[in-house]
Amino acid sequence: MGKIAPLYQNAKLICAVTSDNHIDIKHPVPKVPMWFLTQSLRDCAKSLRPVDVYLTVGDTTSHGSAENWALVRKCFGKCRPAAHVFLTVGNHDLWNDDGYEAAEKNYLDNSNRICGTHHDKTWFSHTVNGYRLIFLGNTQEAGCEAHLGEEQLAWLQKELDAADGTPAFVFCHQSLNGRHGLPRTWDREESATDPMEGGVGTESDRVAAILKAHQNVFYFSGHSHMGLCGEERFRAEGYASFEQEDGVTLVNLPSLACGNHHGDDRSMGIGVLLEVYEDRVVIRPRNFAKHTMNRKVALRDGKPYWEQRV
Ligand SMILES: [Fe+2]
Repeated sequence: MGKIAPLYQNAKLICAVTSDNHIDIKHPVPKVPMWFLTQSLRDCAKSLRPVDVYLTVGDTTSHGSAENWALVRKCFGKCRPAAHVFLTVGNHDLWNDDGYEAAEKNYLDNSNRICGTHHDKTWFSHTVNGYRLIFLGNTQEAGCEAHLGEEQLAWLQKELDAADGTPAFVFCHQSLNGRHGLPRTWDREESATDPMEGGVGTESDRVAAILKAHQNVFYFSGHSHMGLCGEERFRAEGYASFEQEDGVTLVNLPSLACGNHHGDDRSMGIGVLLEVYEDRVVIRPRNFAKHTMNRKVALRDGKPYWEQRV
């Protein structure tokens, strides 16, 4: 138990990242996911070093309805966790009884209200303390997949070009296809067989190629609700929550409040602290509900966090 504190001194940027909150008025007890979200916000607000950014990697809601977004607003209304708040869109946020456009409008209206932004698209970027935060989002109904489209892919390339080797952080609800144990880890029963299932989908190779053409890119996803998996799991079964591929660091987050499977730690309440220093990036899982840092799952070189020179 303890307040959030960076691992080292002189952090240039601290972000709290959570995913798959799944706020849902139809949840058997709607206050349960609301409690986890609120706990994470309060935990950040009490940080010993102010958190610069609180962000989610999608599926803030289980269904992009006005009722669900009202509950999300209620949580954020109780507590301001950080100077900046950004909400990546997820597939569930774009599902709505009135169709894709109504859900997208709900997402934009509510996300702008919560974050104090003026986005007119589901994809956008912000530079905070000199570091590029790039948020990808669907542009049409695509089921569980991502559908970014040509304009956004070209924009992603330009955004990373502009970062010019400075660490850049990309947030997309879906992970690249086949990473983090997909499609096997897509559900508890391991019923998925299509290699694209649970990932970005048809655009995955193109996104991967853009990421890999740049240095010091970190790509964060959620979506599969895989619990925290460490380096032992990678050695034994070839997948983990933190993976590295051709210089790109891939981080898959557990679900904050909707249950997890396949993990070495399947607890709810887990997200990560992203700490950026002059010469390194440190990513540390934290249970925002229990106010504890990960201790039990070794992620890299026997340490319970991911540290990388940049
Ligand atoms: Fe999802």
